[in-house]
Amino acid sequence: MASKSDPSKEPEAKKRKQVRVWVDGCFDMVHFGHANALRQAKALGDVLIVGVHSDKEVTRHKGIPVMSEKERYKMVRSIKWVDEVVEDVPYVTPVSILDEHNCDFCAHGDDITFAPDGSHSYQAIVDAGRFKTFKRTQGVSTTDLVGRMLLMTKEHFLDSEKEDIVAQSPVKKFAVNEMGAITITFLPLSTSQNPLGTNPYNGLFKFLRTSQRIIDFSGGTVKEPKSGDKVVYVAGDFDLFHVGHVAFLEKCLQFGNYIIIGLHEDRVVNSYKGRNFPIMNLHERVLGALACRYVSDVVIGAPYQIEEDLLDFFKVDFVVHGRTPIKPCHDGSDPYQVARDRGIFRQIDSNNPLTTNDIVHRIIRNRMKFEERNERKESVDKRGQESCES
Ligand code: CTP
Ligand code: C5P
Repeated sequence: MASKSDPSKEPEAKKRKQVRVWVDGCFDMVHFGHANALRQAKALGDVLIVGVHSDKEVTRHKGIPVMSEKERYKMVRSIKWVDEVVEDVPYVTPVSILDEHNCDFCAHGDDITFAPDGSHSYQAIVDAGRFKTFKRTQGVSTTDLVGRMLLMTKEHFLDSEKEDIVAQSPVKKFAVNEMGAITITFLPLSTSQNPLGTNPYNGLFKFLRTSQRIIDFSGGTVKEPKSGDKVVYVAGDFDLFHVGHVAFLEKCLQFGNYIIIGLHEDRVVNSYKGRNFPIMNLHERVLGALACRYVSDVVIGAPYQIEEDLLDFFKVDFVVHGRTPIKPCHDGSDPYQVARDRGIFRQIDSNNPLTTNDIVHRIIRNRMKFEERNERKESVDKRGQESCES
């Protein structure tokens, strides 16, 4: 009779080798499209190694990134499907880098941009037969997000009434006043310019919201807290989920190991932040939060005022708020009063000053620099033309 072999006694060489997947990119203003890319890439193997380009390399090939290399490295490290990050990798991926990091193949979204000669920055990898693709996530890109910020659209809001969709007009001009604040002049916008379902400025289809994507991002099921786990509840908009949020959540880990994020509804965020905030709608913010390795669960559309029933339901040990000011409820009351009364409220300093507003300001400043450069170039070209004619 043949005896069954015990796998733990198999020689090392006979054990299945782990498949190591390489992905590289700029990962500027990391969004759930990037996170979904990394989720898919991880599913192609066992270990995911992500190479991130330095500021110098991104600037040389694409233009100045909005987020610094330090911020981009930290952000990619915080994504739950990432096992290793390699900093400062070349823009054009050499086969040697796969060998250096012991990777089997390189994966990229099925959106490769080709140079006029038909080649692309993964040509050598393709030629070596070590290239795989995954589906690019439609409806989100850095360009789309920049559009939402610059053009002040609100059409991405989940709970937009039809008449609200053309909520604000495209921006005509940006200027910085003597106090350093950014002032914005709007252009009139007709409803005909804003067909439902697509972004009128870049023609992109709105992201199709499915519960499947939320299930994918939660890793199939959300694990309940185990006995002995300490539950930390934090609330906010967590818009454009960024390194400031990551730094805050890292600090929250001193109070517990099971972090629940309560995400406020779009209209609630808009009522206290104004303009076209949030830049990402509730569904997008859910995905952004779920992609973070420190987050165990999210409350989709959390109450602004944190009441007894929520704290009891989730058996919350601590409620934590970061370095940003606490905005009172509409009736002037403190949203954290109940948690304070229970003695479980803590306010901490994330030691990272970045806010969503700062990201919007960086984009506007970049845009202003770009426009100034273009204006200078146009006037130089015009002068050159005039001197040729005379
Ligand atoms: N990616 C994706 N879906 C998106 C955006 C990016 O699958 N909506 C993938 C890209 O295909 C690539 C990886 O994420 O494999 C890293 O992309 P990156 O180099 O950061 O840049 P872009 O593709 O330019 O992303 P974006 O347009 O959002 O800047
Ligand atoms: O501003 P938002 O609601 O997204 O913030 C969510 C939480 O993250 C808040 O508790 C806020 O104080 C905290 N935070 C922080 N440091 C940052 C950004 C946010 O502590 N740089």
